[in-house]
Amino acid sequence: MQKIIILDFGSQTTQLIGRRVRELNTFCEILPYNRFPTDDADVIGVILSGSPLSVNQSDAFRLCFDNLRGKYPLLGICYGAQLMADTFGGSVQRSDTREYGRATLSWLNASDPLLAGIDVGAQVWMSHGDTITCLPSGFCAIASTSTVANAAYRGADEEQLWGVQFHPEVFHTLCGKQLLENFVVGICGSRQDWSAAHFVDTTVAELREQVGTELVILGLSGGVDSSVAAVLLHRAIGNKLTCIFVDHGLLRKNEYAEVMSLYEGLGLNVVGVDASAKFYAELAGVTEPERKRKIIGKGFIDVFEAEALKISDARWLAQGTIYPDRIESMNITGKVIKSHHNVGGLPAKMNLKICEPLRWLFKDEVRRVGRQLGIPERLISRHPFPGPGLAVRILGDITPEKVHILQEADDIFIRALREWATDDGDVLYNKVWQAGVVLLPVQSVGVMGDERTYEQAVALRAVTSTDAMTADWAHLPYDFLSHVSNEIINRVQGVNRVCYDISSKPPATIEWE
Ligand code: XMP
Repeated sequence: MQKIIILDFGSQTTQLIGRRVRELNTFCEILPYNRFPTDDADVIGVILSGSPLSVNQSDAFRLCFDNLRGKYPLLGICYGAQLMADTFGGSVQRSDTREYGRATLSWLNASDPLLAGIDVGAQVWMSHGDTITCLPSGFCAIASTSTVANAAYRGADEEQLWGVQFHPEVFHTLCGKQLLENFVVGICGSRQDWSAAHFVDTTVAELREQVGTELVILGLSGGVDSSVAAVLLHRAIGNKLTCIFVDHGLLRKNEYAEVMSLYEGLGLNVVGVDASAKFYAELAGVTEPERKRKIIGKGFIDVFEAEALKISDARWLAQGTIYPDRIESMNITGKVIKSHHNVGGLPAKMNLKICEPLRWLFKDEVRRVGRQLGIPERLISRHPFPGPGLAVRILGDITPEKVHILQEADDIFIRALREWATDDGDVLYNKVWQAGVVLLPVQSVGVMGDERTYEQAVALRAVTSTDAMTADWAHLPYDFLSHVSNEIINRVQGVNRVCYDISSKPPATIEWE
């Protein structure tokens, strides 16, 4: 499979470069800047990412270009462009004018293949404190802005080497998609054959090869990743896969039954375990958020293990780990941090091998593969939901009564989001990243009929986001909020006040705990 290698110098937008390349139906791998795979015959081009560092810093990340220059088409982005200019004899200096945010290309060489289809006036997004003041000999500028002479450059004619000081991967570089397509398809020659259908076919074949006739277990959460992993495995090995779905009693109203029936409809062999009583008992009286999380995390592993050990001849533990969970990312000191997700000590205890069929996919690709596999849209487009469930939305101690109140209020809110039509014919649910209700440890005075009440307050939370790293509160219509507030107060016994959380992240977080 043809692939583009993206060498990561620690930029916050490196993953975005990867996603853009994948959107061009081209496979890519993101690797730490110093781990270029010299023996991989499938590589068709290399992109060097940006970085929070300056090439003039004594501890800047440097690169040996012996295996790259002249061997593959190269595209440097921001730091990547500055690093190539600096390494090959040019000069990079701190810029006197700020080069952040929106800019437009004031001149460009329209005949350069990197800029095909891009016109003067195109909007680009800059984010750099250094600038290339002098290009290496044989290099030439191919685009400028009013303040950045070498906004884009190319190497000598015989070598396929380009640099751009702006960020083509971000949304605000409106010509970025075209530029990346020019590089990946036009210059590197991608056949654009990486697609959901292709992924399903090759992965099913690989899984059959990898797992053979051995038994596999997998923990389902009701979320998209584990569901898609399960259906993919089921397509490959059928009933050799057993799924375990643990109900910790902190799911949404009716969620356990609904998700179980969706899974069964998909033909999966699912063992459902209602462990709510155990979790309520262990959580009784606990108010500290991190303790709640620990108790739930450990309890989940205990229940999962007990079920998994019953399938004593299982040889594999499958997980819904996706690519962003695995990318070895660097912090600014250059230390490589590798994250890996395991279900407790189970793999060692049962001598299980790990199988991660989605390990190459970004989240949006997981959804596309899910659709390709025929998984119902209701499962595919579900909002993210935290592992500890409603526990992090009940401030203070957790009781079954509080869970019940929250489930009822949450159900009204989510149902309304799913039903409320927007101007473009979609529904509000699809316009927000995530939504839910928070039960506050606050009681307040109200009046219902002729009676004075003293009942709970709840907060509605709905945010827009693309990755949960940052989020804005969703600007839901007033008449929608009014409808939900009335419904909750009229129908949920014990609640007499509804607030709407209008905090963004940062400085707030999406969840309240
Ligand atoms: P915050 O509250 O940190 O949430 O802005 C970011 C995203 O992570 C989810 N979240 C969790 N997911 N276990 C999880 O599996 C947790 O303990 C947890 N805490 C927060 C949250 O719902 C949001 O999508």
